[in-house]
Amino acid sequence: MSERKKVTLPALFAKLAEGTPITWLTCYDYPTAHLQEQAGIDMILVGDSLGMTMLGFDSTLPVTMEDMIRHTAAVRRGAPTAWLVGDMPYMSYQPSVESAIRNAGRFMAEAGCDAVKLEGGAEMADRVAGIARAGIPVIGHLGLTPQSVSALGGFRLQGKGAAQAKKIVDDAQALEEAGAFCILLELVPDRVCRLITERAKHCIIMSLGSGPDAHGQLLIYHDAFALYPKFKPRMAKVFADAGAVIRDGLTAYVDEVTARTFPQPDNWFGIKDEEYDELVRLLG
Ligand code: KIV
Repeated sequence: MSERKKVTLPALFAKLAEGTPITWLTCYDYPTAHLQEQAGIDMILVGDSLGMTMLGFDSTLPVTMEDMIRHTAAVRRGAPTAWLVGDMPYMSYQPSVESAIRNAGRFMAEAGCDAVKLEGGAEMADRVAGIARAGIPVIGHLGLTPQSVSALGGFRLQGKGAAQAKKIVDDAQALEEAGAFCILLELVPDRVCRLITERAKHCIIMSLGSGPDAHGQLLIYHDAFALYPKFKPRMAKVFADAGAVIRDGLTAYVDEVTARTFPQPDNWFGIKDEEYDELVRLLG
């Protein structure tokens, strides 16, 4: 049982007010959620990155609402007190304000979320406003927005030039004015992130590969623990090589079963002699 009090919106803003960075990681399953809860993580994002990290697709686009609800509810069971954010998958909010509100509501009602996140700037302000008006805390996502990876020309730094950086600053302002309580900046230059953080009035700015000057940091769990086999982005520090630990364990399992050194008597259960004798008698 977790002893921590539930993380709330006022608790997140209290951290911001006292200047303590907010911690945020992605998570997609029950056992990992349990570990993150034990570590005292403030926020958990069930990202549609699960399409890549958990399902092996090359992008996030094939992920459905059903995938998201299933994984998010599992994470909630493992992390009852973290501030849980459901990531709205591709085409769950782009078609209309109504689709955005309905699907945001599903994250809250069916998966036990505290908030939802969606990608895009001023063009998504009406979706953000609609969700916020429905009483659902909503997070914007600017910079590298993986659902638009094709239009952005790949997984690369956004806002390198002044004009593109100004658009990100303007988009952040539009999202805050529309009612976003938090904005994630993914892969934008550090000084652009700092500018947006300084200009935010009542909005938590989080950084993913956008430098140290936001109100907190997000990392993709699989990058931070060496669990994604295809690549490791430069922005991700590997905090522990869980991939190597698991691989070594798997090799040991294969070796021990092959050598008949596993299982040992501790790993199985016997039957009393009289029961076994009776069994043999019954079988004739
Ligand atoms: O899906 C996800 O994990 C995300 C991160 C890349 C921020 O949106």
